[in-house]
Amino acid sequence: MAKQSLSFFFIVLLLLLTTLSDKSMGQGVGINYGQIANNLPSPARVAVLLQSLNITRVKLYDADPNVLFSFSNSQVEFMIGLGNEYLQNMSIDPTKAQTWLQQRLEPHISKTRITTIVVGNEIFKTNDHTLISSLLPAMKSVYSALTNLGLEKEVTVTSAHALDFLQNSYPPSLGSFKEEFIPYLQPLLDFHSQIKSPFLINAYPFFAYKDSPKEVPIEYVLFQPNQGMVDPNTNLHYDNMLFAQVDALYSAIKALGHSDIEVRISETGWPSKGDENEIGASPENAALYNGNLLRLVQQKKGTPAKQSVPIDVYVFALFNENLKPDPISERNYGLFYPDGKPVYNVGLQGFLPDIIYTSTATTIQILNLWRAVMGLAVAGLIFDKIRMR
Ligand SMILES: *[C@@H]1O[C@H](CO)[C@@H](O)[C@H](O)[C@H]1NC(C)=O
Ligand SMILES: *[C@@H]1O[C@H](CO)[C@@H](O)[C@H](O)[C@H]1NC(C)=O
Repeated sequence: MAKQSLSFFFIVLLLLLTTLSDKSMGQGVGINYGQIANNLPSPARVAVLLQSLNITRVKLYDADPNVLFSFSNSQVEFMIGLGNEYLQNMSIDPTKAQTWLQQRLEPHISKTRITTIVVGNEIFKTNDHTLISSLLPAMKSVYSALTNLGLEKEVTVTSAHALDFLQNSYPPSLGSFKEEFIPYLQPLLDFHSQIKSPFLINAYPFFAYKDSPKEVPIEYVLFQPNQGMVDPNTNLHYDNMLFAQVDALYSAIKALGHSDIEVRISETGWPSKGDENEIGASPENAALYNGNLLRLVQQKKGTPAKQSVPIDVYVFALFNENLKPDPISERNYGLFYPDGKPVYNVGLQGFLPDIIYTSTATTIQILNLWRAVMGLAVAGLIFDKIRMR
């Protein structure tokens, strides 16, 4: 009997401790909320899930009004996306940007925190020079439309880039952009510097690993203990590829005259499943990559070249997205299945409600109340156990 209640005591304690540690794991990290799927929970339920994870930074690929509405009066701040399809029109006609903001941003901005507009996604990867040349003018149109609305201080204008525009990324000190893109990147960087906007990159050490699994040590890409490498020009020591990629970007940007632009990671992640030739895609590796990364974010780690600037990361992605095209890995980047169960354990255990009461805010209040009551009950139980001994 005594043995039983003692083990009950430990189970309760364990539950309490895991609840606490789960909450703090989500702290500070951002998450990409992609929606290329037909089986995702409603945005209102997702709001409760994120609240239970203590994740307060979300990136969308569009400006989905359902999502923005469901997060009204929440603590969550949003990066919203302005799709590639708008760039050409907006580059020619600034009033198109004004209209977009009036329709997509203005109805929400007083209730939902929108901090950033990501204009275009991975534009250089398209290799479409007409599209590439419309990026900067479109960003300028959006910026001046924001200024007209008096929102240019509250909302930042930026874009997100894949790393293929780099000519060289190793050693990090010799990072450089491909020659053909420099005519576009030079004025783009000047604009980032002028409006004090961060430069966003989508960085996937997984791609580098799967292309050369024999040459790239898996520990180096998964943030596991390893020898790492020393940059011969700076003597800086790198023990993970993500940090080396970020510093290569800093070098490439510096080579174009800017040391005043912050690099942030708008996407990174690791798939839990892949095609046969996608070496390394597994739940174990995904758990190591994302778990270790979350710890670095919590520790506010900076890269070797920018130690005082904590890395800023949006993990890709919240859910597995079943309608994404091949390869298999594309549909398996999620931390969660659509039913809210974790795909693997990175210390994030969330709560996805079956139903939503009158509004998300109410559900969240009920959840908090329930937590508080449970907390008190558990504390009472523990107190009783201790007193009885
Ligand atoms: C949740 O996150 C906020 C802000 O990131 C932090 O201040 C708070 O302490 C976190 N709560 C827990 C329980 O970790
Ligand atoms: C761009 O403008 C053209 C002409 O006004 C219009 O037909 C087209 O739908 C616009 N594209 C987008 C994505 O709004």
